[in-house]
Amino acid sequence: MAIGYERWQGEVADAATPLLALCRSIFPDFTDAYLLDRLTRLTDPMLWLVAEGGEWRGFKLGYRRGDDLLYSWLGGISPELRGQGVAAELMCRQHAEAAANGYRFVETRTRAANNPMILLNLRHGFHVAGFETDAQGIGVVIQRKALAPTQA
Ligand SMILES: CC(C)(COP(=O)(O)OP(=O)(O)OC[C@H]1O[C@@H](n2cnc3c(N)ncnc32)[C@H](O)[C@@H]1OP(=O)(O)O)[C@@H](O)C(=O)NCCC(=O)NCCS
Repeated sequence: MAIGYERWQGEVADAATPLLALCRSIFPDFTDAYLLDRLTRLTDPMLWLVAEGGEWRGFKLGYRRGDDLLYSWLGGISPELRGQGVAAELMCRQHAEAAANGYRFVETRTRAANNPMILLNLRHGFHVAGFETDAQGIGVVIQRKALAPTQA
């Protein structure tokens, strides 16, 4: 079945129910409040979706953290669609839109044990920019990418 990529154009709060279903299928032990508590408070949210046969199969959600910084907060691909370059394509679209909107940097935090996500970021121009331990004592790698400016 064909895979499509789309930018969510409405309020992100209106995407909460299908997004929650997607998060539950992507992240083991997902806590609904993790998404719902923040979803309505994001500044300039940018939500990109992957759809297949009318069903959402992946997403990438970022938001503004300063004049020139897009923070890429949460994302993932349904298990059955992994390893086919879908997350890579989603990231390219997110970065292209960010650059076109004047952002100069993208930053993200990933648990240190999440090799697939850290490698994907490295393959797409991110550098390691820091390391911290989160509230649960889990190591988190901070990665940052400078975006190439788009031509006017
Ligand atoms: C991380 C994740 C988004 C990758 O999605 P994906 O569509 O399978 O990734 P892609 O097929 O686009 O892979 C692109 C690159 O990422 C890296 N990568 C992806 N999966 C990998 C794996 N299992 N092991 C090692 N590297 C991996 C590779 O560099 C790969 O490029 P290559 O195939 O040329 O080697 C997916 O595994 C996922 O949804 N994981 C659970 C959710 C998550 O961890 N989200 C991030 C934290 S919010």
